[in-house]
Amino acid sequence: MSAEATALKIAERPLVPYAKGEAYRLYQGDSVELMNQFPEQQFDLIFADPPYFLSNGGFTCKSGKRASVQKGAWDVSRGVEEDHAFTVEWLKACQRALKPTGTLWVSGTQHVIFNVGFAMQKLGFKLLNTVTWYKPNASPNLSCRYFTHSTELLIWASPRPAKTLQHTFNYARMKAENGGKQMRDVWNLPRTGEEELTADGEGRMWTQIAPRREEKAFGSHPTQKPVALLERIIEASTDKDAAILDPFNGSGTTGVAALKLGRRYTGIDLDSKYLELTKKRLDAVSR
Ligand SMILES: C[S@@+](CC[C@H](N)C(=O)[O-])C[C@H]1O[C@@H](n2cnc3c(N)ncnc32)[C@H](O)[C@@H]1O
Repeated sequence: MSAEATALKIAERPLVPYAKGEAYRLYQGDSVELMNQFPEQQFDLIFADPPYFLSNGGFTCKSGKRASVQKGAWDVSRGVEEDHAFTVEWLKACQRALKPTGTLWVSGTQHVIFNVGFAMQKLGFKLLNTVTWYKPNASPNLSCRYFTHSTELLIWASPRPAKTLQHTFNYARMKAENGGKQMRDVWNLPRTGEEELTADGEGRMWTQIAPRREEKAFGSHPTQKPVALLERIIEASTDKDAAILDPFNGSGTTGVAALKLGRRYTGIDLDSKYLELTKKRLDAVSR
């Protein structure tokens, strides 16, 4: 079938959610295909936690033991060129889906984040910040040939440059959360209750490293993000009732944070078992 015929076929396919609730919609399928069927400029915020292309026969340390990195077929690299082409396609679809006042957040490690940053620059996004999320008790490096990987990066960007900045940034709220001083791009996390909070505003680091036990009550995802990370992102860059999209939904962490904060959520994933898990999590928040 020609590319044109395929595009027509996709366009004709009705957009039927896999599941929905009062403030959320979940779709099963390829995020590029689906996002391109949504109306343009619909979302206030997109959070993307894409494949990091890590599942390539390597090893990591889990609970003190050597374990192979196997997160799923979706996480296998297809080579630098093909991985980059995929990145460009989903970023383009995000750019199309965002309102001019909206922003995109993308998480990643060195395995993917430079690829994402380069693609964003080429596509004309305006980079706003690169936030460092520090993981103080990251897994040790088994090979002892590298420093221990203990950070993830979050690129925050507007879909297009504009003469005057249009993006939402709840500056005062972030400042207040940081003890009255401007919040830096290395985050701490005032909500865990696990560390002493002096709110000194001196760039203390984000120290929560993993979802809490109750966040896995309905099951888990191999790369599940902590809800607190998404709460910070959503509070910083959206207002109440904002429309939020996650094109790599996973266990639906973005949706959980969105609903908790009174926003509306759309999630996309290839895998129905992750959408089932998400539905349980979102319905529990809605209750
Ligand atoms: C890194 S995980 C996201 C984890 C999520 N942030 C969480 O907290 O659970 C990426 C997810 O994207 C999905 N995925 C990968 N490629 C996709 C594609 N082309 N379209 C839709 N979903 C995709 C995978 O099934 C996986 O669940």
